[in-house]
Amino acid sequence: MPAPLISPSILSADFARLGEEVRAIDAAGADWIHVDVMDGHFVPNITIGPAVVKALRPHTAKPFDVHLMISPVDSYLEAFAAAGADIITVHPEAGPHTHRTVQAIKALGKKAGISLNPATPAKMLDYLIDEIDLVLIMSVNPGFGGQSFISSQLRKIEAVRKMIDKTGRQIHLEVDGGVDVTTAKLCTDAGADVLVAGTATFKGGADHYASNIAALKGAG
Ligand code: DX5
Ligand code: ZN
Repeated sequence: MPAPLISPSILSADFARLGEEVRAIDAAGADWIHVDVMDGHFVPNITIGPAVVKALRPHTAKPFDVHLMISPVDSYLEAFAAAGADIITVHPEAGPHTHRTVQAIKALGKKAGISLNPATPAKMLDYLIDEIDLVLIMSVNPGFGGQSFISSQLRKIEAVRKMIDKTGRQIHLEVDGGVDVTTAKLCTDAGADVLVAGTATFKGGADHYASNIAALKGAG
């Protein structure tokens, strides 16, 4: 099995030096840049908006993997697309018409992802799977970095891997929350091919980013 792609979450970066941090993880071997957008309403934390994504865009050519934890979400898709998002991932609970939301993301020329909270069943994907480019399994409840991996989500990763393989299409299966060198292997064994890592990428400071990313790739 090829090594997983690593998408460091900049939620764990130094927000006072975000551009520099993005350049550092790019140089350290990040495959994608995971951008956690929170509104203090859909999730109990507030982070950044499209203006910050736009400001970061010149700092890397790597794909921006934008995870929207906001509700309503539809009215902000265009702004994130214009700001330079490459993949836009939404939660089905963030709006009344998820299929329409996916169509809107694709109409903007971006890749569309669906994120499933720990309590959201894989079944939610039944009528979306043929339309999307990525499934993001939340292995923590969204809102904060540094939480512990919820092992029950491994069964969901396995179930979604089967659903994806059945489509015969190339759909990424990404896991987000509590990913470290131990849980990385559990995720890839269950069928994940992209791992989000905030704490595990940024721990120890910039001198450690490359070895942290390499360790995650090696473990997964
Ligand atoms: C949680 C976010 C995650 C989180 C991951 O709501 O979606 O991306 O920052 O952080 P770690 O890797 O520290 O669990
Ligand atoms: Zn995330």
